Amino acid sequence: MLRLMARPVPLLERSRREFGDSFTLRAPPMGELVFVSDPTSIKAVFAADRVNTIATGRNLVLAPLLGEDSLLLLEGQRHFGRRKLMLPPFHGERMRAYEQVMREATERQLRSWPLGEAFRLHASMQEITLDVIMRAVFGVGRGRREELRRALLEILAAVRSPATIGVTLPVVRELPRFRKLAARVRAADALLAAEIADHRADPGLAERDDILSLLIEARDPEGEGMGDSELRDQLMTLLLAGHETTATALAWAFELLFRRPDALTRLTEEVRCGESGYLDAVIEETLRLRPVVPFVGRLLRRPMTLDGYELPTGTNVFPAIYLAHTNPSSFPDPYAFLPERFLEGSPETYSWIPFGGGTRRCIGASFAQFEMRVVLQTVLSGAVLRPGSDRPQPMVRRNVTLSPRDGTPAILAERRRFAIEREGALSPS
Ligand code: HEM
Repeated sequence: MLRLMARPVPLLERSRREFGDSFTLRAPPMGELVFVSDPTSIKAVFAADRVNTIATGRNLVLAPLLGEDSLLLLEGQRHFGRRKLMLPPFHGERMRAYEQVMREATERQLRSWPLGEAFRLHASMQEITLDVIMRAVFGVGRGRREELRRALLEILAAVRSPATIGVTLPVVRELPRFRKLAARVRAADALLAAEIADHRADPGLAERDDILSLLIEARDPEGEGMGDSELRDQLMTLLLAGHETTATALAWAFELLFRRPDALTRLTEEVRCGESGYLDAVIEETLRLRPVVPFVGRLLRRPMTLDGYELPTGTNVFPAIYLAHTNPSSFPDPYAFLPERFLEGSPETYSWIPFGGGTRRCIGASFAQFEMRVVLQTVLSGAVLRPGSDRPQPMVRRNVTLSPRDGTPAILAERRRFAIEREGALSPS
């Protein structure tokens, strides 16, 4: 259990070497955990989502922060209904509305980088994704932005610490450290409540683009909308599910590009010409080789046969994203960073699953991929970056994500504005 939590990749790799694509890990106190990684089994698990599975142990650590109405924690019909309500604002075509916000957030960071000195790109990417969530998702105006940013940063820093696992135990929650965290959450909640109230009072709400406005306006088939407390839970969920994940994926994109200077040169040249084919391939390959979330879990409510094994009701099944992505039958030379492999077409649905699948698939997938495009394009057209360290970054687990250990050190060699030759080269998937 400890190895699975602390260093999942070596354990998963070793188990695959010893037992093949599907295997069981006995991990007390969670019991038997069945991992599958071939596309047929993964497809079967995700296809069973509506009829046979629940998403177990979902973010136990984050649950007290997310709140009971959080989409991440709902199950069954209630989950399905809420998901239907929340999906339209995240539709791929809508993402263009956030391009300007994403570009500005990136340019602000770019201006803050020191010339010729190593800095951590991961931290900078976290600033960008927080800024983007506050503006594009929460729709926070200038007045409240700085105060909310400070409150959320404190919560996010606490969540990143492995000690946060303690909040799952009621006695631990009474310790001063966690009482302080609870006070921070209350402060952030008060600011979010004020923001929700301002949104509701805005006569121009229907014209607003931010996701909070769209969620306030959304109605279920009975004509009911979300109440303030549920809106708060969904905003906190979108922050915690969307901020660190996207920042980490971006930090990995730079890290992998640093280790393949020819790919970095090609991407930079294409981006400066307004092309996006190689850019998309780089993003897909980054999410393949460094999938951020190494596995997702489902609990079987009925027996199921997977990869020739009969699994009883109550089995915990884990589509192992990392193993699926490094399966040599799906991806030849799986450990090499080769964006070229995706130039001919998009990856296969059940071999490439960085956003999970079925009815629990990430609702922010288009948002995240679009943000990655805008950030990479803006950075590469405004800066010349060099690696800040000779050694490739190992993967370390931070709460749910697999992150670059030292935060992708980088050096800004030159800052300049390259003209993008063709405008509107970015298109959402
Ligand atoms: C590169 C960035 C991201 C990655 C790798 C990622 C990955 C994932 C994964 C693996 C899941 C679980 C899927 C499953 O169990 O099958 C998930 C769920 C989710 N993600 Fe993301 N995510 C990213 C960005 C975002 C963003 C930007 C948002 C929103 C702003 C978001 C919101 C959510 C939500 C709400 C869920 C829960 C969906 C449900 O239970 O129905 N994610 N994500």
